[in-house]
Amino acid sequence: MSFTVAIDGPAAAGKGTIARAVAARFGFAHLDTGLLYRAVGARMLEGADPVAAARGLAPADLARSDLRAADVARAASEVAAIPEVRAALVAFQRGFARQAGGAVLDGRDIGTVICPEAEVKLYVTASPEVRAHRRWLEEGGDAAQVLADVHARDARDTGREDAPLKAAGDAVLIDTTALDIDGAVAAACAHVAARLAGK
Ligand code: DC
Repeated sequence: MSFTVAIDGPAAAGKGTIARAVAARFGFAHLDTGLLYRAVGARMLEGADPVAAARGLAPADLARSDLRAADVARAASEVAAIPEVRAALVAFQRGFARQAGGAVLDGRDIGTVICPEAEVKLYVTASPEVRAHRRWLEEGGDAAQVLADVHARDARDTGREDAPLKAAGDAVLIDTTALDIDGAVAAACAHVAARLAGK
């Protein structure tokens, strides 16, 4: 049986935490699809052609320790706007989504482009200020710069031509602005449980 949970939303809205928790709770595999774009971005910073890097992406690229760095995040956002990069990453994501035993994928276009047939679609969001504050608590730095980065990435992710960030029409919205992580995870798990029960 395959069962796909698609989780989309902007950076630092809490979708990664929710995705990991849902996967653990239901015994599903989890793919953070942002890592694919980060790995391509990291290769671009090293001088590689991003399209060639996306086509040749290997599991070892996803295990690099520098994928969370701020410059890699910026590069990821840039390469994510290149249609040929996105196209090169589709088949891997769809294969992952349809594996036996269930899968959770989190990203920007999972419910809209990668897995429009997903059994559960969640769109996790929060205000830019709350997301920037969470990032700042995790990574430190200049708070105003962190907020500016959040706004810049939002603009790139929602404004690009190919597969822009947006909620699928049939996605369930989870706004974590005023919700703690336990509340957000509980809401997500309730939707998955209801769908598994056939409701
Ligand atoms: O979720 P993240 O911060 O790791 O994502 C890194 C970048 O990759 C981000 O700018 C958006 C992009 N991305 C995307 O375009 N599509 C996805 N499915 C996942 C990430």
